[in-house]
Amino acid sequence: MLKEINEAVAYLQKRGITSPEVGVILGTGLGNRFVEEIQSPVIINYNSIPYFPISTVEYHKGRLIYGTLKGKKVLAMQGRFHYYEGYSLQQVTMPVRVMKLLGIEYLLISNAAGNLNTKWKKGQLMMLNDHINLLPDNPLRGENYDLFGPRFPDMSAPYSPLLNKKLKQLARKLKIKLNEGVYVAMQGPNLETRAEYRFLRLIGADAVGMSTVPEVIVANHMGLPCCAISVLTDDCDPDNLKPVNIEEIVKVAAKAEPQLTKLYINLIKEL
Ligand code: HPA
Repeated sequence: MLKEINEAVAYLQKRGITSPEVGVILGTGLGNRFVEEIQSPVIINYNSIPYFPISTVEYHKGRLIYGTLKGKKVLAMQGRFHYYEGYSLQQVTMPVRVMKLLGIEYLLISNAAGNLNTKWKKGQLMMLNDHINLLPDNPLRGENYDLFGPRFPDMSAPYSPLLNKKLKQLARKLKIKLNEGVYVAMQGPNLETRAEYRFLRLIGADAVGMSTVPEVIVANHMGLPCCAISVLTDDCDPDNLKPVNIEEIVKVAAKAEPQLTKLYINLIKEL
């Protein structure tokens, strides 16, 4: 993987990505508005980057956008990779390693997730303050590259307390409702059964999705401060479960997108 990562980094540097400060991963149905805010964008399709995975999900575009936002050099991933697409978690997280080697100092993540908390409603946002990895794998499995990070990385604060504090302050200032809770990663691609939702609530999860945790593990491995916000796209109440489909999830995500975009743009301004 080391050779592949280095080749992707060298290619992107050659294409002009020389000094990104903030990396952003845009999830399902999110990101169009955010990308519109990036000035003098350089756009690079994933399929032109050596060894980069490509998005196989139609709701995910597959391109990197590099440009200026609020005076900062931003590198945004429009579209990410998931375990359910068949990629290994090393492949899923390769872009995080590439962005870190290109120079990003912060990583801001977004995703669409199911809402497990009865006090909240779909359409709201949740800032992650912790997670549970129920994926059947780990991106750090196998040989450890000491130059990236330690064999046994600490996970006592996987989401940067500084970034989360700033996000909470900004949400208050901008009058955006920002819930805070625990995200659990499932492998998908099917949504969960009622019994599974009951189980996920019991173990302490507030939101469920199929992404983010691998990227956060790798960011922590590399000492890269990160934060993540879920758009809660559907209510996962085991006692009153309605069928959901991906179109509806994308629709709710798009509706909540302006608030998420506002939070992240203001956060970037403060970094
Ligand atoms: N599970 C349930 N609902 C969801 C998910 C998920 O993984 N992602 C978005 N809504």
